[in-house]
Amino acid sequence: MDAAAAARASNGAPNYKRLEGKVAIITGGASGIGACAVRKFHENGAIVVLADIVDEQGQSIADTLGENVTFVHCDVSKEEDIINLVDSTVAKYGKLDIMYNNAGVIDKIFGSILESTRADLDKCLNVNLAGAFMGAKHAARVMVPQKRGCILFTSSACTHVGGLATTAYAVSKYGIMGLTKNLSSELGMHGIRVNCVSPYGVATSLLPSDGRTVEQAEAGMSALGNLKGQVLKPDGIAMAAVYLASDEASYVSGLDLVVDGGYSVVNPTMLKARQVRQ
Ligand SMILES: NC(=O)c1ccc[n+]([C@@H]2O[C@H](COP(=O)([O-])OP(=O)(O)OC[C@H]3O[C@@H](n4cnc5c(N)ncnc54)[C@H](O)[C@@H]3O)[C@@H](O)[C@H]2O)c1
Repeated sequence: MDAAAAARASNGAPNYKRLEGKVAIITGGASGIGACAVRKFHENGAIVVLADIVDEQGQSIADTLGENVTFVHCDVSKEEDIINLVDSTVAKYGKLDIMYNNAGVIDKIFGSILESTRADLDKCLNVNLAGAFMGAKHAARVMVPQKRGCILFTSSACTHVGGLATTAYAVSKYGIMGLTKNLSSELGMHGIRVNCVSPYGVATSLLPSDGRTVEQAEAGMSALGNLKGQVLKPDGIAMAAVYLASDEASYVSGLDLVVDGGYSVVNPTMLKARQVRQ
């Protein structure tokens, strides 16, 4: 049995726990990418505080995973909720190693700026950007005296190629890149690493299903994607976050880990020209 197979032996949980003993907060942990990250962080030995606004769903995941996973109600657009989240975590577990600012919303799936309202922009900025900003601020408040820590964000591949999302959503995610770069610079001297993950489309409740099954939605995104023979699922993003949070990434900071199968670096015109010649 090779090392990877051995690691997956028996119940699918890895033998080698990459986050053993680390205390992690994951916002938006009740659904999609965040819920998957909660499970992967837990499997990898982390103590996880799942933060979300959907209490029943969040509590149910925490109850199912049991030991070392707790749910805390937190609306990331409210600073007082974030203060309570961070302070209650440190009061309970004595430290905070990983702050994964993942909670996010979209205004709509596509649409022109001409149809964008101020409310659409405020919604994206308040949750995606201000929520991540305040999450990072209050995590840094407790990580600086610790002289170590890891701050993560979920950004989006829409910050690498135009046209993947509405402009209101895109600008909220471009701000995450600013947070990642600026904070990796400011907090490096305190031993704190700051990184983000930028996913291509993942079939989660963020995206309207239009009556399609998850499999149909995944097939649709794969058909539009660059990398064939693979489907991007929430665990593809969750495992990128596990890597960035782990000691294996101990010198990685300021990175935007784009998980898009090469979508954002392909020139579609040249690709078509090559296909015509073949
Ligand atoms: N699904 C995709 O295709 C995709 C692509 C790129 C980036 N992302 C980003 O990934 C992250 C996770 O999204 P997902 O696809 O898992 O969607 P999702 O809707 O399944 O999960 C988002 C979670 O965030 C929570 N949330 C929303 N507003 C909140 C608030 N104010 N406070 C706390 N929690 C809140 C929701 O309740 C939900 O549990 C988001 O930041 C999203 O922008 C998703």
